[in-house]
Amino acid sequence: MKKTHGIAILGFGVVGGGVAKLVTDNKEELKKYTGKEIEIVRILDLRDFPDSPFASVITHDYSDVLSDERVDTVIEVMGGSHPAYEYTMAALKAGKNVVSSNKEVVANYGDEFVKAAKEAGVSYRFEAAVGGGIPVISPMLFSLRQNRMTEVRGILNGTTNYILTKMFTFGDSFESALADAQAKGYAERNPDADVLGIDASRKIAILSALGFDKLVNVNEIPTEGITGIRAEDVRAAESIGHSIKLLGRCIARENADPFIMVAPFLLPSDSPLAGVCGVYNAVEVLAEPLGNVMFYGQGAGAGATASAVVGDLIPIIAYDNYNPIVPGFNKTDYSPKAAFGEFKAKSYVALPEGSEECVRKVFGEVTPISSCGEYAFITEAMSEADFASRIEKLGVKPLSRIRFA
Ligand code: HSE
Repeated sequence: MKKTHGIAILGFGVVGGGVAKLVTDNKEELKKYTGKEIEIVRILDLRDFPDSPFASVITHDYSDVLSDERVDTVIEVMGGSHPAYEYTMAALKAGKNVVSSNKEVVANYGDEFVKAAKEAGVSYRFEAAVGGGIPVISPMLFSLRQNRMTEVRGILNGTTNYILTKMFTFGDSFESALADAQAKGYAERNPDADVLGIDASRKIAILSALGFDKLVNVNEIPTEGITGIRAEDVRAAESIGHSIKLLGRCIARENADPFIMVAPFLLPSDSPLAGVCGVYNAVEVLAEPLGNVMFYGQGAGAGATASAVVGDLIPIIAYDNYNPIVPGFNKTDYSPKAAFGEFKAKSYVALPEGSEECVRKVFGEVTPISSCGEYAFITEAMSEADFASRIEKLGVKPLSRIRFA
């Protein structure tokens, strides 16, 4: 019986560095829980790290990882779909466990990984892929499984939540809040994946699979980001006691697949999700008979993400042949985009001044909101299809439209 458990870390960036540090700093505690010493056998990266204490285990060649019999678990924290997909499949097929923080590859190929892990009798785990350090995948896999999910919704992207918080708290424009997020290192130089909602759509695809047993194609998730949110919208939201949050939502339907979407939503300022500020993330699960639970914490960063990665590693080491069933990762052709026309919500709409008369004709009675230099109102709850046809009839492009959650 081996006294050590060998790991290889793919990607020695912020998260990979965090994992190496945690495993090293908490060596004794981890040994106490798992019964074995975790040995960092290999670290794969394109770069050299001559001054790092891990310099001797750096490799640039993945075959060094695959062929090394000391490697029991591969920690894939490199990001992106390729070569993460190929490396993960090869590791699983070689009988190595894989732990990943990479939401893109989990959302795109989770079904294949779960199947390959089952066939090889090893583990594939991905707690860090959603909500960084927040334990949400494991609760959804195990603790909440006996419930019927009615909705899973969350603030799944810290960068956009930081930007929206700046816009609400300090009155920043989107552009200046984004520049600040970039200066602080939260937003990438190319911030598209965050601000266009793509990152959140990958994460809601993963949560939907766990909650509703189907893994949809991420490109089929209706996705709106926060680039269109203006200072006027922030003021309008505040005037009615609401906040705006970018939410990933998966909502159960009777006898139909769930609605799945990512979009900015108006939430009452005193609701739990509205109170989630800055780079923090939160996931709210509404389920029967449980009721509501909310998971809250740091959605990114070296320490938080490493915590989730190493948390996945512990049962793999502690229990022999640990490969629990991962339900839900069944690829489907169901298109949440096609179903979205039936999704009903009230909306806040801002139009150029002078549109009042036309609005009354097309939308009937609406609730006006005071707005400087434009005409803003709240519609009744109506389907997306209905809303779109009324806007077409109106013949005026809204300056803004944000749904109520
Ligand atoms: N870009 C992501 C965010 C990082 O801002 O939340 C964590 O997935």
